[in-house]
Amino acid sequence: RMMEPEHILEQVIQFFNPKKDFQGKKVMITLGPTQEALDPVRFLSNHSSGKMGYALAKAFEAQGGAVTLVAGPVSLKLDESRFEVHRVTTAAEMFETAKSLHEQMVVVVFAAAVADFRPENAAVQKIKKAGEELTLRLVPNVDLALALGKIKSTNQIHVGFALETEQEEVNAKAKMVRKNFDLIVLNSATEAGAGFKHDTNQVRIFHKGGKEVQTALLSKEAIAEIILEEVKKVAS
Ligand code: CTP
Repeated sequence: RMMEPEHILEQVIQFFNPKKDFQGKKVMITLGPTQEALDPVRFLSNHSSGKMGYALAKAFEAQGGAVTLVAGPVSLKLDESRFEVHRVTTAAEMFETAKSLHEQMVVVVFAAAVADFRPENAAVQKIKKAGEELTLRLVPNVDLALALGKIKSTNQIHVGFALETEQEEVNAKAKMVRKNFDLIVLNSATEAGAGFKHDTNQVRIFHKGGKEVQTALLSKEAIAEIILEEVKKVAS
């Protein structure tokens, strides 16, 4: 059977791509949402599609990177012939998987929209209606980026994402320091066509050292290429 035309095009681009700046380098990308069970049939989650993380995976691979994906539940097709794919559901599972792989990685991109909270107790049976209101008690989830940022070695590069609705730059830079990122990609919360569900995005990229890059509204593939260029600057 013929390969998907999109895959053939990527192979052709890769074949003729003279720049293989990540040849043999191990790259781990967290992507997608997490799901936190309320009961056997319900969960808390968010709208993350995983598209930005997957665009980055393809971009690193095109430059020779050996890419491992730690993916929450996404409807995207993840090509297991090109990537080492670990599928997880909860934040706790995503953390355990990412932690076990972290030490071997040269670049780690935290593109997942990890649920910050989970129900304190997932009900064993389906929660039945009982009265007018239902109060859920939520407890915090592990912060992967924060925890792995603490054990990051000097030859590892961590890239984080931020979505802020106020004091965007100040908050994103504070997040970069707190989570020990080398680069943070600030998603535009206001620009139409940017963010979670779209195929396009518009971002600002901040380096730990203070340098900043701003993109136009572009496809997530094009944004991924720009992020890669910035990762290279950290690496060199
Ligand atoms: N992140 C993570 N684990 C979490 C929460 C966030 O690894 N439990 C990572 C995300 O993948 C992203 C970065 O941290 O790269 C920032 O996520 P964001 O949700 O914006 O930050 P929070 O720390 O949750 O801050 P707040 O919700 O207060 O803005």
